[in-house]
Amino acid sequence: MGTPVAVEIIDDGAVMVVGWGSGTRSRFHAIWLRDNALDPETRDPGNGQRLIALTDIPAETRIALAETGEAGDVVVTFSPEDKTVRFPGAWLHAHAYDRPEDHRADRPCGWIQQELTTWDSGLANSVPTGDYRALSTNRGALGDWLSAVRRYGFAKVTGGPVASGAVCDVAALFGFVRETNYGRWFDVRTEVSPSNLAYTGLGLTAHTDNPYRDPVPTLQILYCLENSADGGDSLVVDGFMAATRLRDEAPDMFDLLSHYCARFEYRGAAEVCLRSRKPMIELAPDEELIGIRFNNRSTAPIVDVPYDHMRDYYAAYRRFADIIDAPGMAVRFKLAPGECFIVDNTRVMHARTGYSSTGTRWLQGCYADKDGLLSTLATIEDDLNEH
Ligand code: FE2
Repeated sequence: MGTPVAVEIIDDGAVMVVGWGSGTRSRFHAIWLRDNALDPETRDPGNGQRLIALTDIPAETRIALAETGEAGDVVVTFSPEDKTVRFPGAWLHAHAYDRPEDHRADRPCGWIQQELTTWDSGLANSVPTGDYRALSTNRGALGDWLSAVRRYGFAKVTGGPVASGAVCDVAALFGFVRETNYGRWFDVRTEVSPSNLAYTGLGLTAHTDNPYRDPVPTLQILYCLENSADGGDSLVVDGFMAATRLRDEAPDMFDLLSHYCARFEYRGAAEVCLRSRKPMIELAPDEELIGIRFNNRSTAPIVDVPYDHMRDYYAAYRRFADIIDAPGMAVRFKLAPGECFIVDNTRVMHARTGYSSTGTRWLQGCYADKDGLLSTLATIEDDLNEH
């Protein structure tokens, strides 16, 4: 399938066409091929990093010669450098960008990556859960759990130590804690003069954390040390499911929340003044849904929506909140000591029910980042593929 069976040069050497064993064809531009050459003068054989800049490559680069070589390689000679480079056929196939069955034109606004699965309260029957000891000692188990975090943006850990600071050990399973003004980790329990409403017994509506930061912490872990109070249940809601529902029900509302920036601010403690200007629903330039920011406590006056659209913007904001709070959206659970959950803070909102002053509820939280998690997952998946 991924084996080149024919190679042709077209457009005066500006493009190479590879015919595959499957009968399909892929076009590659000469400048793209030259920039991505795999030879040791172009890429460091040790660390794989590119040794040259685009401006080192002649702008008039053309393909002078291209032919299939040994073991499914394609051998390309570029002019005017007169440089010959070998591309493995499998590499070309894996990186082909000229797909005959190009699906990109059909993707809806707010499309999501294939490796993500949106969910609602039905996930309660199969919450992805890892055992702390297994995650600490077994790379396969860790890979399964990290893969679930990538797919659902949410997972639990059970069987952890009931020890202050253990929340950071969970982050260390895959990456690094992101320290903030709240510290390396922070206690979530009732305080006399709380610097944040999280440090009270009040219920908290579904939210993403710290939307006033840019960039936001992309992961949050909340770890339970005590939970004997009445109430204090945890809830999580898939923001991508909520945004997708809004898009399908009311595309104009989805457009307003993704098109205009909201404002977020936190200045609840001395010498802290965090502000951001970002949309509640964030899209990539190709309309991929890439982020949710939603937090009633830290939304600042929104001033980037034109007067003529503000009324509709507020209607959209309300509708989005209604969808997030709708029955059937949240997975609800009560953490026991030694248990924790992790959320993708760019996607999954968390909430808690209010709790009583009898008994105690003591959670610790920390932030970490998704790039480190995905890096660890990628190395585990590479190991599995090699063995
Ligand atoms: Fe929170």
